[in-house]
Amino acid sequence: MSNEAVEALIRQLDVVDDSPGAAALRARSYELLHAAQGALVVDVGCGAGRAVAELTEQGAGVIGIDISDQMIALARERWPRGEFRAGDANALAFGDGQAAGYRADKVIHTLADPGRALAEARRVLAQAGRIVLCGQDWDTFVIDSSDPELTRTIVRKRADQVASPRAARQYRSLLLDAGFRDVTVEVHTGVFTGASFLPVLTRLAEACCEQGAVKLAQADAWIADQRQRARADRLFAAVPIFMAAGTNP
Ligand SMILES: C[S@@+](CC[C@H](N)C(=O)[O-])C[C@H]1O[C@@H](n2cnc3c(N)ncnc32)[C@H](O)[C@@H]1O
Repeated sequence: MSNEAVEALIRQLDVVDDSPGAAALRARSYELLHAAQGALVVDVGCGAGRAVAELTEQGAGVIGIDISDQMIALARERWPRGEFRAGDANALAFGDGQAAGYRADKVIHTLADPGRALAEARRVLAQAGRIVLCGQDWDTFVIDSSDPELTRTIVRKRADQVASPRAARQYRSLLLDAGFRDVTVEVHTGVFTGASFLPVLTRLAEACCEQGAVKLAQADAWIADQRQRARADRLFAAVPIFMAAGTNP
């Protein structure tokens, strides 16, 4: 990813992190890890590192891993007490059975081969180690708009740009296929009504425009409609967020 793309991603992640319900959702993911004090938890695709900081606060021996050096640098700057390392979800620099917990939040959809990453997760997890995956399904954004047909196109075309857009609806099957047991899935719906969500919606339309999937005038009109909705307090988007967990047998 270019520096600009990482900066845009960080802005969007900050919006999501600050949205109502986000803290409770992260807390639920920590709960599902069942991590004992001091136990090693690996937060894969840690981004700007908030979860690493929060888990460290709770007493876990957590290490954040991200493939982007820029993300790792930002995470270290934001959370100096957290431990962050550059690394790849497909080839983690941990020994077999070294970790008690594995967490990947909004990451699996970015991977071309989620099964490979989950096999790697199993390798590094100890027996009875826990895995928790969170993320949205990129084909399932609910966005109110004055042009529902164009909205459908934007959501679908944006999903087509994601490596594994439907990974979240596949979490259960992916975990079972990787050999995890006691697999559970929860769905928590994020509801966004404020202007703070505009950068996420704008980015959806812009990304489709950059790929030639919608015309500039269409994207501009769609974004203008969303801005008007935000001004009139009529912006509405809902995003089902899937949270799956399992145990390494
Ligand atoms: C959408 S962000 C989510 C960041 C963070 N987990 C959060 O919830 O805010 C996805 C992150 O996964 C990282 N990533 C993508 N592919 C990866 C890989 N193969 N190994 C490790 N990290 C990866 C990206 O650099 C990015 O920081």
